[in-house]
Formats: sequence, C-alpha cells, structure tokens
Amino acid sequence: MPKSASAQLIAARSEFQRALLAWYHVHARKLPWREHPSLYQTVVSEFMLQQTQVKTVLPYLARWLVELPDFAALAKAPEARVLKLWEGLGYYSRARNLHRLAQQVVTWPEMRRSAEAWRELPGVGPYTSAAITSISFGTPAACVDGNVVRILARLTADATEFRDSATASKVFTPLAEALLTRDEPGNHNQAMMELGATVCFRQKPLCLTCPVRAYCAAATQGEPESFPRLAPKQIEQRSVNRVWCIKDDRLLLHRSAAGARRLADIHELPTVEQAGLATDVANPGRLLAKKRRGITRFQITESIYATLAPRGKLPPELVWVPLNQLETITLSGPHRRWVAEILARDA
Ligand code: ADE
Repeated sequence: MPKSASAQLIAARSEFQRALLAWYHVHARKLPWREHPSLYQTVVSEFMLQQTQVKTVLPYLARWLVELPDFAALAKAPEARVLKLWEGLGYYSRARNLHRLAQQVVTWPEMRRSAEAWRELPGVGPYTSAAITSISFGTPAACVDGNVVRILARLTADATEFRDSATASKVFTPLAEALLTRDEPGNHNQAMMELGATVCFRQKPLCLTCPVRAYCAAATQGEPESFPRLAPKQIEQRSVNRVWCIKDDRLLLHRSAAGARRLADIHELPTVEQAGLATDVANPGRLLAKKRRGITRFQITESIYATLAPRGKLPPELVWVPLNQLETITLSGPHRRWVAEILARDA
C-alpha cells in the first residue's frame, strides 16, 4: 500500500468522516433495518446480506420477521421451518448457523457487546461481527468486505495484486479501523457499504457525485476502475447429470442427510449417481433441460434426463414426493425453478 496515500488519508480523517456521514444522512436508502433498528433485525439482515444483494433480501426479511419475530421464536423453531423460510436465498449453512446462534444468544444472562464475543457464534466472521456490534451497540469495529476494499484501494490508489478478496480485506483492515468514526461506527460502516453499493461501483463509478472524491487518489489519477487489483479467479468447469423420474404423480428427489456439510435436509433432483443409475451414465435417458450456473469458483453445467424409476430398495436419501406436496418441502432455489419449468412444459 502506498504509505503516503494512506498516511495522508488518515491525517485528513476528520474531514473525510464528516463528508462521508453528511452524505450518508441525506442519501442512505431507506432500508427496514435502518428505519426500525433492533438487534434481532440487524443480525438476521446481516446473515441474509452475506453473499446476497439488498433487493433480493428484502422480501425474505419481511416474511422472516413475521414468522420468527425474535431470538426466542427462532431458537425454538424446528430447523425445517427455518430452512423453508430461507428457501431460494442459497448458502443454507447461513440459515442453520443463524438458528444455532439464536439458541446460544437466548442462554446469555446479559447481552454481549464486543465484536470478539459475537465472533465466537456460528457463522459470524470479522465482517458480520463488526456490522452487528457497531450498528447495534456502537462498538468501534470496522466492516471490511469487497465493497470497502474497493473504496479503500481507490482512495489510496493501491496497486498491489491481491490473491483474493479475503486477503485484500485483511490487508485493508488497519486502514479501515484508522478511518472509522469512533462515535458513530454503525453509521460510518453503513455509509461505507452504501458508498460501495450506490456510488463507487466496480465499473463506471460515479466519481462526480462522490462525497469523498477530494480524498481519492485513484479519482485524481483518473483511473479508479483499475483498483483494486485482484488475481483472476481460477474458474473450474464441472458437469453434473441429474434424473427426472416421476411415478404415480410422485417425483424422485434427493434429500441430503441432516448432518451433511452442504444442503443438509434440502431436496434436489438426484444426480445419476445418487439415483443408483451409475451404470447408465453413458445413456441416461431423454435430455429435458440443460442449465448452467456458477457456484463459487465452479461453472457447472447440469443436464436433466428423463429416466425410468430405479429398481430395488431406495437408499434413505432418495424420497418420492407427491407432486401436490412439492410446496411443503424445501427445494434448493434453482431446483425449484427447474422443477416448475419442466412440470409446466409437460402439462
Ligand atoms: N450489506 C451488508 N450489510 C449491509 C447493511 N447493513 N446495509 C446495506 N448493505 C449491507
């Protein structure tokens, strides 16, 4: 990191903070967790906002708060209900961690306010602990995610090539802490998030309307888009063959075991291997759909084949779900869309 740029920025931090917060107080989007803040709503929204955009989260959060309005209600809800409310948001370990978090928080004799205490809870990393405690308790902890990294790399015109976003976050944390407005850390953190989400875009940032342009070395140099520099992601191609099998108005689905690391208790169309049709991989049946999606660093092509029912006794993870009960189970988001699409086409 160019020392002089970050030192200059830190030297000007009071003016930087004032400009940032004045802008935030006028331009912040009116979001539910800002309009009616509560610890519980902040925690739930921060979990949902990990890896998911604000506009996707809004309807999920509204429904969640009606069904599970506080930590006590969440702590005693059955896991299946928690997962059902999360259906379509993806990364289901977040839902399970949030559930376990509530079960721990309700046992605390008094509320804990430090970022360190919250980091001990399931699913709470440095970003989420800083967000929750700064917003809810005014704890002076800085949030650093991809958005904040982008802003800080541009403010300092830092041309270091980072291996990935997590490495960059670690490197920028001391600067983020040094710039934090200590008597308004929650607003400061949310102002940085807001700046990243609405002004300091990855491409075509709106420098002309940026409240902290005067402090931005990259804008001064005229090439803000070239920061931050991240090593290109190594994308891996994968292909998966899945089966579509209906018998007596029931659809064959795979439900991962309750203790599975990924997708526990969540239904998906079975892969050819899960359906025990491995010997037929070369000719799995009639191709009904081919879908592409990216999950983390994998680019996955999924082909769905109409097949005959597997013979013999099914393993416990394979279940026949009546078509009229599909709404009552938790299907992973893309699978719900594919099932609806194929059923609508066949109807
Ligand atoms: N992303 C993560 N936390 C957020 C928050 N509190 N407001 C807006 N976007 C966010």
